[in-house]
Amino acid sequence: MNEEMHKYFTPPDLKAAKKRGKEEVSVLEFDRIPEEMRRIGEGKKYLIKTYGCQMNVHDSETIAGILEQMGYEGTEEEEEASIILINTCAIRENAEDKVYGEIGRLKTLKTEKPELLLGMCGCMSQEESVVNRILTKHQHVDLIFGTHNIHRLPHLLFEALMGKEMVVEVWSKEGDIVENLPKVREDGLKAWVNIMYGCDKFCTYCIVPYTRGKERSRRPEDVLAEIRELARKGYQEVTLLGQNVNAYGKDLTDREYRFGDLMDDVRQIGIPRVRFTTSHPRDFDDHLIEVLAKKGNLVEHIHLPAQSGNSDILKIMARKYTREQYMELVRKIKKAIPDVVLTTDIIVGYPGETEEQFQDTLSLMEEVEYDSAFTFIYSPREGTPAARMKDDVPMKVKKERLQRLNQLQDAISRKKNEALRGQILEVLVEGESKKDPDVLSGRTRTNKLVNFRGPKHLIGQFAHVRIDDPKTWTLSGTLAGDERIGQVGS
Ligand code: SAH
Ligand code: SF4
Ligand code: F3S
Repeated sequence: MNEEMHKYFTPPDLKAAKKRGKEEVSVLEFDRIPEEMRRIGEGKKYLIKTYGCQMNVHDSETIAGILEQMGYEGTEEEEEASIILINTCAIRENAEDKVYGEIGRLKTLKTEKPELLLGMCGCMSQEESVVNRILTKHQHVDLIFGTHNIHRLPHLLFEALMGKEMVVEVWSKEGDIVENLPKVREDGLKAWVNIMYGCDKFCTYCIVPYTRGKERSRRPEDVLAEIRELARKGYQEVTLLGQNVNAYGKDLTDREYRFGDLMDDVRQIGIPRVRFTTSHPRDFDDHLIEVLAKKGNLVEHIHLPAQSGNSDILKIMARKYTREQYMELVRKIKKAIPDVVLTTDIIVGYPGETEEQFQDTLSLMEEVEYDSAFTFIYSPREGTPAARMKDDVPMKVKKERLQRLNQLQDAISRKKNEALRGQILEVLVEGESKKDPDVLSGRTRTNKLVNFRGPKHLIGQFAHVRIDDPKTWTLSGTLAGDERIGQVGS
Protein backbone atom coordinates (compact mmCIF):
# COMPACT_ATOMS: atom_id res chain seq x y z
CA MET A 1 0.00 0.00 0.00
CA ASN A 2 1.53 3.34 -0.91
CA GLU A 3 1.27 6.70 0.83
CA GLU A 4 -1.52 7.93 -1.39
CA MET A 5 -3.68 4.97 -0.50
CA HIS A 6 -3.02 5.41 3.21
CA LYS A 7 -4.58 8.79 3.00
CA TYR A 8 -8.04 7.36 2.45
CA PHE A 9 -7.65 3.95 4.00
CA THR A 10 -9.30 3.67 7.38
CA PRO A 11 -9.66 -0.04 7.98
CA PRO A 12 -12.86 -1.29 9.60
CA ASP A 13 -12.30 -3.02 12.90
CA LEU A 14 -14.80 -5.44 14.44
CA LYS A 15 -13.32 -5.03 17.91
CA ALA A 16 -13.62 -1.27 17.77
CA ALA A 17 -17.19 -1.69 16.58
CA LYS A 18 -18.03 -3.65 19.70
CA LYS A 19 -16.78 -0.95 22.09
CA ARG A 20 -19.94 0.95 22.78
CA GLY A 21 -19.42 4.08 24.78
CA LYS A 22 -21.86 6.55 26.13
CA GLU A 23 -20.69 9.20 23.69
CA GLU A 24 -23.38 11.54 22.55
CA VAL A 25 -24.88 10.89 19.17
CA SER A 26 -24.51 13.95 16.99
CA VAL A 27 -27.21 14.91 14.56
CA LEU A 28 -25.59 16.31 11.43
CA GLU A 29 -27.25 18.01 8.52
CA PHE A 30 -26.30 16.86 5.05
CA ASP A 31 -24.59 19.80 3.36
CA ARG A 32 -25.29 20.98 -0.10
CA ILE A 33 -23.09 19.16 -2.56
CA PRO A 34 -20.01 21.35 -3.13
CA GLU A 35 -20.20 23.44 -6.29
CA GLU A 36 -17.32 21.66 -8.04
CA MET A 37 -19.03 18.28 -7.58
CA ARG A 38 -22.52 19.22 -8.63
CA ARG A 39 -22.04 18.63 -12.34
CA ILE A 40 -19.61 15.74 -12.24
CA GLY A 41 -22.28 13.30 -13.35
CA GLU A 42 -23.83 15.29 -16.16
CA GLY A 43 -24.53 13.06 -19.13
CA LYS A 44 -23.48 9.99 -17.13
CA LYS A 45 -25.43 7.13 -15.63
CA TYR A 46 -25.30 5.09 -12.44
CA LEU A 47 -26.43 1.62 -11.49
CA ILE A 48 -26.80 0.38 -7.90
CA LYS A 49 -27.08 -3.33 -7.18
CA THR A 50 -28.64 -3.88 -3.79
CA TYR A 51 -28.42 -6.98 -1.60
CA GLY A 52 -29.76 -7.58 1.90
CA CYS A 53 -32.50 -6.11 4.02
CA GLN A 54 -34.77 -3.08 3.79
CA MET A 55 -32.10 -0.90 5.41
CA ASN A 56 -29.91 -1.52 2.42
CA VAL A 57 -32.75 -0.96 -0.02
CA HIS A 58 -33.39 2.37 1.63
CA ASP A 59 -29.68 3.26 1.80
CA SER A 60 -29.57 2.68 -1.95
CA GLU A 61 -32.36 5.24 -2.30
CA THR A 62 -30.17 7.71 -0.42
CA ILE A 63 -27.13 6.90 -2.53
CA ALA A 64 -29.25 7.40 -5.65
CA GLY A 65 -30.42 10.73 -4.22
CA ILE A 66 -26.84 11.91 -3.73
CA LEU A 67 -25.74 10.74 -7.18
CA GLU A 68 -28.66 12.51 -8.84
CA GLN A 69 -27.72 15.72 -7.05
CA MET A 70 -24.33 15.29 -8.68
CA GLY A 71 -25.96 15.16 -12.10
CA TYR A 72 -26.03 11.39 -12.66
CA GLU A 73 -29.07 9.58 -14.04
CA GLY A 74 -30.16 6.06 -13.16
CA THR A 75 -29.95 3.09 -15.53
CA GLU A 76 -30.65 -0.63 -15.38
CA GLU A 77 -28.07 -1.42 -18.10
CA GLU A 78 -24.55 -2.22 -16.94
CA GLU A 79 -23.10 -1.25 -20.34
CA GLU A 80 -24.55 2.25 -20.07
CA ALA A 81 -23.34 2.93 -16.56
CA SER A 82 -20.35 5.11 -15.67
CA ILE A 83 -20.70 4.08 -12.04
CA ILE A 84 -21.72 0.69 -10.70
CA LEU A 85 -22.12 0.44 -6.93
CA ILE A 86 -22.74 -2.83 -5.13
CA ASN A 87 -24.59 -2.33 -1.85
CA THR A 88 -23.70 -5.48 0.04
CA CYS A 89 -25.08 -7.67 2.82
CA ALA A 90 -23.00 -9.66 5.30
CA ILE A 91 -25.70 -11.54 7.17
CA ARG A 92 -24.87 -15.01 5.84
CA GLU A 93 -22.04 -16.54 3.88
CA ASN A 94 -24.15 -17.07 0.76
CA ALA A 95 -25.00 -13.34 0.71
CA GLU A 96 -21.27 -12.58 0.63
CA ASP A 97 -20.55 -15.23 -1.98
CA LYS A 98 -23.05 -13.62 -4.35
CA VAL A 99 -21.23 -10.31 -4.03
CA TYR A 100 -17.81 -11.83 -4.70
CA GLY A 101 -19.31 -13.53 -7.75
CA GLU A 102 -20.67 -10.22 -8.96
CA ILE A 103 -17.39 -8.36 -8.39
CA GLY A 104 -15.54 -11.10 -10.29
CA ARG A 105 -18.01 -10.98 -13.15
CA LEU A 106 -17.78 -7.20 -13.46
CA LYS A 107 -14.03 -7.41 -13.95
CA THR A 108 -14.55 -8.12 -17.65
CA LEU A 109 -16.65 -5.00 -18.07
CA LYS A 110 -14.12 -2.94 -16.14
CA THR A 111 -11.29 -4.21 -18.35
CA GLU A 112 -13.20 -3.29 -21.48
CA LYS A 113 -14.15 0.07 -20.06
CA PRO A 114 -11.44 1.30 -17.66
CA GLU A 115 -13.24 4.59 -17.04
CA LEU A 116 -16.08 2.67 -15.37
CA LEU A 117 -16.10 3.36 -11.63
CA LEU A 118 -16.80 0.22 -9.63
CA GLY A 119 -17.66 0.68 -5.97
CA MET A 120 -18.70 -1.39 -3.02
CA CYS A 121 -20.64 -0.23 0.03
CA GLY A 122 -23.00 -1.68 2.62
CA CYS A 123 -22.42 -4.17 5.41
CA MET A 124 -19.57 -6.19 3.86
CA SER A 125 -17.48 -3.03 3.65
CA GLN A 126 -17.55 -2.91 7.44
CA GLU A 127 -15.65 -6.21 7.71
CA GLU A 128 -11.87 -6.07 7.86
CA SER A 129 -11.41 -9.42 6.16
CA VAL A 130 -13.60 -8.38 3.25
CA VAL A 131 -11.77 -5.09 2.74
CA ASN A 132 -8.44 -6.90 2.87
CA ARG A 133 -9.62 -9.47 0.34
CA ILE A 134 -10.80 -6.75 -2.06
CA LEU A 135 -7.53 -4.85 -1.63
CA THR A 136 -5.48 -7.89 -2.51
CA LYS A 137 -7.60 -9.92 -4.89
CA HIS A 138 -10.00 -7.51 -6.55
CA GLN A 139 -7.96 -4.47 -7.38
CA HIS A 140 -10.32 -3.52 -10.16
CA VAL A 141 -12.63 -2.10 -7.45
CA ASP A 142 -12.19 1.69 -7.28
CA LEU A 143 -14.07 2.64 -4.16
CA ILE A 144 -15.13 1.08 -0.86
CA PHE A 145 -17.20 2.98 1.67
CA GLY A 146 -18.99 1.87 4.81
CA THR A 147 -22.50 2.19 6.18
CA HIS A 148 -21.55 5.27 8.25
CA ASN A 149 -19.94 7.04 5.30
CA ILE A 150 -22.82 7.38 2.85
CA HIS A 151 -23.11 11.14 3.34
CA ARG A 152 -19.41 11.40 2.39
CA LEU A 153 -20.10 9.94 -1.06
CA PRO A 154 -19.63 13.17 -3.06
CA HIS A 155 -16.11 13.62 -1.64
CA LEU A 156 -15.17 9.96 -1.95
CA LEU A 157 -16.41 9.80 -5.50
CA PHE A 158 -14.47 12.93 -6.31
CA GLU A 159 -11.28 11.37 -4.93
CA ALA A 160 -11.90 8.12 -6.77
CA LEU A 161 -12.48 9.90 -10.07
CA MET A 162 -9.42 12.12 -9.67
CA GLY A 163 -6.95 9.58 -8.35
CA LYS A 164 -5.70 6.25 -9.60
CA GLU A 165 -5.72 4.43 -6.27
CA MET A 166 -8.55 2.57 -4.65
CA VAL A 167 -10.38 4.86 -2.23
CA VAL A 168 -11.40 3.19 1.02
CA GLU A 169 -13.30 4.95 3.78
CA VAL A 170 -14.95 2.85 6.43
CA TRP A 171 -15.57 4.00 10.00
CA SER A 172 -15.93 1.36 12.68
CA LYS A 173 -17.39 3.08 15.66
CA GLU A 174 -18.90 6.37 14.73
CA GLY A 175 -22.61 6.41 14.97
CA ASP A 176 -23.95 9.79 14.04
CA ILE A 177 -27.29 10.59 12.52
CA VAL A 178 -27.34 12.53 9.30
CA GLU A 179 -30.54 14.37 8.49
CA ASN A 180 -31.64 15.92 5.21
CA LEU A 181 -30.11 13.27 2.99
CA PRO A 182 -31.58 13.36 -0.51
CA LYS A 183 -33.54 10.30 -1.61
CA VAL A 184 -34.79 8.83 -4.83
CA ARG A 185 -37.59 6.57 -3.65
CA GLU A 186 -38.38 3.36 -5.54
CA ASP A 187 -41.99 4.27 -6.19
CA GLY A 188 -44.56 6.93 -5.36
CA LEU A 189 -46.75 4.60 -3.36
CA LYS A 190 -44.75 3.02 -0.57
CA ALA A 191 -41.84 4.58 1.28
CA TRP A 192 -39.24 3.46 3.78
CA VAL A 193 -38.53 5.72 6.74
CA ASN A 194 -35.59 5.11 9.08
CA ILE A 195 -36.53 5.71 12.68
CA MET A 196 -33.29 4.42 14.13
CA TYR A 197 -29.94 3.05 13.10
CA GLY A 198 -27.66 0.34 14.42
CA CYS A 199 -28.19 -2.45 16.93
CA ASP A 200 -26.92 -3.01 20.48
CA LYS A 201 -28.47 -6.43 21.01
CA PHE A 202 -25.41 -8.48 20.00
CA CYS A 203 -27.23 -11.76 19.40
CA THR A 204 -24.30 -14.16 19.35
CA TYR A 205 -24.71 -15.25 15.71
CA CYS A 206 -25.26 -11.82 14.21
CA ILE A 207 -22.93 -9.45 12.39
CA VAL A 208 -25.32 -6.47 12.25
CA PRO A 209 -24.24 -4.73 15.51
CA TYR A 210 -20.72 -4.62 14.05
CA THR A 211 -21.67 -3.48 10.58
CA ARG A 212 -24.32 -0.92 11.50
CA GLY A 213 -22.87 0.60 14.66
CA LYS A 214 -24.55 1.52 17.87
CA GLU A 215 -28.26 1.97 18.39
CA ARG A 216 -29.33 5.55 17.82
CA SER A 217 -32.77 7.03 17.31
CA ARG A 218 -33.71 9.83 15.00
CA ARG A 219 -35.47 12.70 16.72
CA PRO A 220 -39.26 12.14 16.73
CA GLU A 221 -39.87 15.54 15.11
CA ASP A 222 -37.61 14.59 12.19
CA VAL A 223 -39.36 11.24 11.70
CA LEU A 224 -42.83 12.76 11.95
CA ALA A 225 -41.94 15.60 9.56
CA GLU A 226 -40.67 13.08 7.01
CA ILE A 227 -43.88 11.03 7.24
CA ARG A 228 -46.07 14.14 6.97
CA GLU A 229 -44.15 15.17 3.88
CA LEU A 230 -44.66 11.72 2.34
CA ALA A 231 -48.38 11.92 3.10
CA ARG A 232 -48.51 15.32 1.40
CA LYS A 233 -46.79 13.87 -1.64
CA GLY A 234 -49.48 11.20 -1.92
CA TYR A 235 -47.67 8.14 -0.54
CA GLN A 236 -50.12 5.49 0.64
CA GLU A 237 -47.86 3.48 2.88
CA VAL A 238 -44.77 3.92 5.01
CA THR A 239 -42.61 1.28 6.65
CA LEU A 240 -40.68 2.45 9.69
CA LEU A 241 -37.24 0.90 9.71
CA GLY A 242 -34.86 -0.18 12.44
CA GLN A 243 -33.04 -3.39 13.38
CA ASN A 244 -34.89 -3.35 16.66
CA VAL A 245 -37.63 -0.73 16.50
CA ASN A 246 -38.82 -1.49 20.03
CA ALA A 247 -35.62 0.05 21.32
CA TYR A 248 -36.62 3.34 19.71
CA GLY A 249 -36.14 6.31 21.99
CA LYS A 250 -34.08 4.52 24.65
CA ASP A 251 -31.07 6.62 23.72
CA LEU A 252 -32.88 9.97 23.59
CA THR A 253 -31.45 11.78 26.59
CA ASP A 254 -33.68 14.83 26.50
CA ARG A 255 -37.05 13.11 26.82
CA GLU A 256 -39.04 10.00 27.68
CA TYR A 257 -40.43 9.01 24.31
CA ARG A 258 -40.56 5.45 23.07
CA PHE A 259 -41.75 3.44 20.08
CA GLY A 260 -45.34 3.28 21.38
CA ASP A 261 -45.38 7.08 21.63
CA LEU A 262 -44.03 7.39 18.12
CA MET A 263 -46.67 5.02 16.74
CA ASP A 264 -49.37 6.92 18.57
CA ASP A 265 -48.19 10.13 16.90
CA VAL A 266 -47.84 8.50 13.48
CA ARG A 267 -51.43 7.28 13.87
CA GLN A 268 -52.60 10.89 13.65
CA ILE A 269 -50.93 11.45 10.27
CA GLY A 270 -53.09 11.04 7.18
CA ILE A 271 -51.19 8.23 5.55
CA PRO A 272 -53.36 5.13 4.98
CA ARG A 273 -50.94 2.42 6.05
CA VAL A 274 -48.06 2.28 8.48
CA ARG A 275 -45.84 -0.76 8.93
CA PHE A 276 -42.66 -1.30 10.90
CA THR A 277 -39.79 -3.73 10.86
CA THR A 278 -38.20 -5.33 12.78
CA SER A 279 -39.47 -5.66 16.30
CA HIS A 280 -37.47 -7.57 18.87
CA PRO A 281 -39.66 -9.58 21.28
CA ARG A 282 -37.64 -8.42 24.26
CA ASP A 283 -38.72 -4.77 24.36
CA PHE A 284 -42.28 -5.17 23.07
CA ASP A 285 -44.09 -3.31 25.83
CA ASP A 286 -47.77 -3.14 26.80
CA HIS A 287 -48.09 0.47 25.75
CA LEU A 288 -47.03 -0.44 22.22
CA ILE A 289 -49.61 -3.25 22.08
CA GLU A 290 -52.26 -0.84 23.32
CA VAL A 291 -51.39 1.69 20.62
CA LEU A 292 -51.27 -0.93 17.85
CA ALA A 293 -54.69 -2.19 18.93
CA LYS A 294 -56.12 1.22 18.01
CA LYS A 295 -55.47 0.21 14.39
CA GLY A 296 -56.55 2.93 11.92
CA ASN A 297 -53.49 3.33 9.75
CA LEU A 298 -51.45 0.99 11.99
CA VAL A 299 -51.80 -2.32 10.20
CA GLU A 300 -52.45 -5.63 11.96
CA HIS A 301 -49.19 -7.28 10.93
CA ILE A 302 -46.25 -7.80 13.25
CA HIS A 303 -42.98 -9.39 12.22
CA LEU A 304 -41.71 -10.93 15.43
CA PRO A 305 -38.53 -12.94 14.91
CA ALA A 306 -38.38 -15.89 17.31
CA GLN A 307 -35.13 -17.47 15.99
CA SER A 308 -35.77 -20.65 18.02
CA GLY A 309 -38.47 -22.29 20.11
CA ASN A 310 -36.05 -23.69 22.67
CA SER A 311 -35.14 -21.64 25.73
CA ASP A 312 -31.61 -23.05 26.03
CA ILE A 313 -30.82 -22.19 22.44
CA LEU A 314 -32.39 -18.75 22.90
CA LYS A 315 -30.14 -18.28 25.90
CA ILE A 316 -26.94 -19.05 24.04
CA MET A 317 -28.16 -16.91 21.16
CA ALA A 318 -28.39 -14.09 23.76
CA ARG A 319 -31.90 -13.27 22.62
CA LYS A 320 -32.81 -12.35 26.21
CA TYR A 321 -36.22 -14.03 26.29
CA THR A 322 -37.42 -17.58 26.90
CA ARG A 323 -39.91 -19.56 24.87
CA GLU A 324 -42.46 -18.94 27.63
CA GLN A 325 -41.91 -15.18 27.56
CA TYR A 326 -42.21 -15.17 23.79
CA MET A 327 -45.47 -17.15 23.95
CA GLU A 328 -46.81 -14.84 26.64
CA LEU A 329 -46.13 -11.88 24.36
CA VAL A 330 -47.87 -13.64 21.47
CA ARG A 331 -50.91 -14.29 23.66
CA LYS A 332 -51.06 -10.66 24.74
CA ILE A 333 -50.81 -9.43 21.16
CA LYS A 334 -53.48 -11.85 19.92
CA LYS A 335 -55.80 -10.86 22.73
CA ALA A 336 -55.44 -7.15 21.95
CA ILE A 337 -55.50 -7.60 18.16
CA PRO A 338 -57.50 -10.76 17.38
CA ASP A 339 -56.99 -10.56 13.60
CA VAL A 340 -53.24 -9.93 13.83
CA VAL A 341 -50.96 -11.62 11.32
CA LEU A 342 -47.67 -12.73 12.84
CA THR A 343 -44.59 -13.57 10.80
CA THR A 344 -41.15 -14.56 11.97
CA ASP A 345 -37.50 -15.39 11.33
CA ILE A 346 -36.08 -18.74 12.40
CA ILE A 347 -32.52 -20.07 12.43
CA VAL A 348 -31.95 -23.82 12.33
CA GLY A 349 -28.74 -25.63 13.09
CA TYR A 350 -27.29 -23.21 15.62
CA PRO A 351 -24.06 -24.74 17.01
CA GLY A 352 -24.97 -27.75 19.11
CA GLU A 353 -28.72 -27.68 18.37
CA THR A 354 -30.14 -31.13 19.19
CA GLU A 355 -33.05 -32.85 17.47
CA GLU A 356 -35.14 -32.24 20.58
CA GLN A 357 -34.31 -28.56 20.65
CA PHE A 358 -35.19 -28.32 16.98
CA GLN A 359 -38.53 -29.98 17.70
CA ASP A 360 -39.25 -27.17 20.15
CA THR A 361 -38.94 -24.79 17.21
CA LEU A 362 -41.40 -26.90 15.22
CA SER A 363 -43.85 -26.88 18.10
CA LEU A 364 -43.47 -23.12 18.57
CA MET A 365 -44.34 -22.67 14.93
CA GLU A 366 -47.47 -24.77 15.39
CA GLU A 367 -48.45 -23.03 18.57
CA VAL A 368 -48.09 -19.48 17.25
CA GLU A 369 -49.40 -20.30 13.77
CA TYR A 370 -47.39 -17.74 11.84
CA ASP A 371 -48.76 -16.67 8.48
CA SER A 372 -45.26 -16.93 7.04
CA ALA A 373 -41.66 -17.30 8.12
CA PHE A 374 -38.19 -16.56 6.84
CA THR A 375 -36.10 -19.58 7.69
CA PHE A 376 -32.32 -19.83 7.60
CA ILE A 377 -29.54 -22.31 8.19
CA TYR A 378 -27.13 -20.87 10.73
CA SER A 379 -24.11 -19.32 9.03
CA PRO A 380 -20.98 -18.57 11.10
CA ARG A 381 -19.90 -14.92 10.86
CA GLU A 382 -16.30 -14.09 11.58
CA GLY A 383 -15.87 -12.03 14.74
CA THR A 384 -19.16 -13.07 16.36
CA PRO A 385 -19.19 -15.22 19.56
CA ALA A 386 -21.13 -18.06 17.89
CA ALA A 387 -18.43 -18.46 15.26
CA ARG A 388 -16.09 -19.63 18.02
CA MET A 389 -18.54 -22.23 19.36
CA LYS A 390 -18.12 -25.89 18.58
CA ASP A 391 -20.62 -26.88 15.94
CA ASP A 392 -21.27 -30.60 15.77
CA VAL A 393 -24.45 -30.48 13.71
CA PRO A 394 -23.64 -31.83 10.24
CA MET A 395 -24.75 -29.72 7.26
CA LYS A 396 -26.90 -32.60 6.04
CA VAL A 397 -28.88 -32.50 9.29
CA LYS A 398 -29.21 -28.71 9.13
CA LYS A 399 -30.58 -28.91 5.61
CA GLU A 400 -33.01 -31.61 6.56
CA ARG A 401 -34.23 -29.53 9.52
CA LEU A 402 -34.73 -26.53 7.29
CA GLN A 403 -36.81 -28.64 4.95
CA ARG A 404 -38.98 -30.03 7.75
CA LEU A 405 -39.48 -26.53 9.12
CA ASN A 406 -40.45 -25.16 5.72
CA GLN A 407 -42.89 -28.00 5.12
CA LEU A 408 -44.62 -27.29 8.39
CA GLN A 409 -44.76 -23.55 7.72
CA ASP A 410 -46.16 -24.12 4.23
CA ALA A 411 -48.99 -26.20 5.66
CA ILE A 412 -49.76 -23.51 8.24
CA SER A 413 -49.59 -20.71 5.63
CA ARG A 414 -51.93 -22.67 3.39
CA LYS A 415 -54.41 -23.15 6.24
CA LYS A 416 -54.24 -19.49 7.23
CA ASN A 417 -54.85 -18.34 3.67
CA GLU A 418 -57.64 -20.86 3.18
CA ALA A 419 -59.48 -19.17 6.05
CA LEU A 420 -59.63 -16.02 3.91
CA ARG A 421 -61.68 -17.73 1.16
CA GLY A 422 -64.76 -15.67 0.36
CA GLN A 423 -63.62 -12.64 2.38
CA ILE A 424 -63.43 -9.18 0.87
CA LEU A 425 -60.10 -7.56 1.62
CA GLU A 426 -58.71 -4.07 1.16
CA VAL A 427 -55.86 -4.22 -1.34
CA LEU A 428 -53.39 -1.46 -2.16
CA VAL A 429 -52.94 -2.03 -5.90
CA GLU A 430 -49.24 -1.82 -6.76
CA GLY A 431 -49.12 -2.68 -10.43
CA GLU A 432 -49.38 -5.38 -13.04
CA SER A 433 -48.57 -8.87 -11.86
CA LYS A 434 -45.05 -10.00 -12.79
CA LYS A 435 -46.34 -13.11 -14.54
CA ASP A 436 -49.35 -11.73 -16.41
CA PRO A 437 -49.76 -8.06 -17.40
CA ASP A 438 -53.54 -8.53 -17.54
CA VAL A 439 -53.57 -9.29 -13.86
CA LEU A 440 -53.14 -6.62 -11.18
CA SER A 441 -51.38 -7.28 -7.95
CA GLY A 442 -51.36 -5.59 -4.60
CA ARG A 443 -51.13 -6.16 -0.89
CA THR A 444 -53.52 -6.48 2.00
CA ARG A 445 -53.03 -4.63 5.27
CA THR A 446 -51.37 -7.81 6.51
CA ASN A 447 -48.92 -7.65 3.58
CA LYS A 448 -50.29 -10.64 1.69
CA LEU A 449 -49.94 -10.55 -2.07
CA VAL A 450 -53.27 -10.56 -3.93
CA ASN A 451 -53.69 -11.07 -7.71
CA PHE A 452 -56.89 -10.16 -9.49
CA ARG A 453 -58.22 -8.91 -12.82
CA GLY A 454 -59.18 -5.26 -12.91
CA PRO A 455 -58.80 -1.98 -14.77
CA LYS A 456 -55.32 -0.41 -14.80
CA HIS A 457 -56.57 2.86 -13.36
CA LEU A 458 -56.77 1.08 -10.01
CA ILE A 459 -52.96 1.05 -9.82
CA GLY A 460 -51.94 3.24 -6.92
CA GLN A 461 -55.36 3.00 -5.30
CA PHE A 462 -57.21 0.86 -2.82
CA ALA A 463 -59.54 -1.82 -4.17
CA HIS A 464 -61.78 -4.36 -2.53
CA VAL A 465 -61.09 -7.88 -3.66
CA ARG A 466 -63.00 -11.07 -2.87
CA ILE A 467 -60.59 -13.91 -2.23
CA ASP A 468 -61.68 -16.96 -4.18
CA ASP A 469 -58.47 -18.89 -4.69
CA PRO A 470 -56.15 -18.83 -1.71
CA LYS A 471 -52.76 -20.45 -2.26
CA THR A 472 -49.80 -21.04 0.04
CA TRP A 473 -47.92 -17.81 -0.70
CA THR A 474 -50.44 -15.69 -2.59
CA LEU A 475 -54.15 -15.04 -2.84
CA SER A 476 -56.20 -14.80 -6.04
CA GLY A 477 -59.48 -13.02 -6.14
CA THR A 478 -61.98 -10.94 -8.05
CA LEU A 479 -62.73 -7.28 -7.82
CA ALA A 480 -65.63 -6.80 -5.46
CA GLY A 481 -67.31 -4.01 -7.45
CA ASP A 482 -68.58 -1.20 -5.30
CA GLU A 483 -68.99 -3.34 -2.27
CA ARG A 484 -67.70 -1.28 0.58
CA ILE A 485 -66.09 -2.78 3.60
CA GLY A 486 -65.79 0.56 5.31
CA GLN A 487 -63.30 3.35 5.18
CA VAL A 488 -59.75 2.72 4.14
CA GLY A 489 -57.79 1.82 7.22
CA SER A 490 -60.77 0.79 9.30
N1 SAH B 1 -32.87 -7.16 13.56
C1 SAH B 1 -33.62 -8.25 13.12
C2 SAH B 1 -32.89 -9.21 12.25
C3 SAH B 1 -32.09 -8.75 11.13
S1 SAH B 1 -31.24 -10.00 10.31
C4 SAH B 1 -34.09 -9.01 14.33
O1 SAH B 1 -33.39 -9.14 15.29
O2 SAH B 1 -35.16 -9.52 14.27
C5 SAH B 1 -32.56 -10.97 9.64
C6 SAH B 1 -32.55 -12.39 10.07
O3 SAH B 1 -31.40 -13.04 9.58
C7 SAH B 1 -32.50 -12.64 11.56
O4 SAH B 1 -33.73 -12.49 12.17
C8 SAH B 1 -31.99 -14.05 11.62
O5 SAH B 1 -33.04 -14.97 11.58
C9 SAH B 1 -31.15 -14.19 10.37
N2 SAH B 1 -29.72 -14.25 10.68
C10 SAH B 1 -28.96 -13.32 11.28
N3 SAH B 1 -27.69 -13.76 11.43
C11 SAH B 1 -27.65 -15.01 10.91
C12 SAH B 1 -26.63 -15.99 10.77
N4 SAH B 1 -25.40 -15.78 11.21
N5 SAH B 1 -26.96 -17.17 10.19
C13 SAH B 1 -28.22 -17.40 9.76
N6 SAH B 1 -29.21 -16.51 9.85
C14 SAH B 1 -28.95 -15.32 10.43
FE1 SF4 C 1 -28.87 -9.09 14.80
FE2 SF4 C 1 -30.02 -9.57 17.11
FE3 SF4 C 1 -29.53 -7.05 16.37
FE4 SF4 C 1 -31.41 -8.48 15.12
S1 SF4 C 1 -31.43 -7.84 17.28
S2 SF4 C 1 -29.85 -7.21 14.17
S3 SF4 C 1 -30.55 -10.53 15.13
S4 SF4 C 1 -28.02 -8.61 16.84
FE1 F3S D 1 -27.54 -7.61 5.55
FE2 F3S D 1 -26.62 -5.46 6.67
FE3 F3S D 1 -29.21 -5.78 6.41
S1 F3S D 1 -25.87 -7.50 6.96
S2 F3S D 1 -29.46 -7.97 6.50
S3 F3S D 1 -27.77 -5.57 4.77
S4 F3S D 1 -28.16 -4.75 8.06
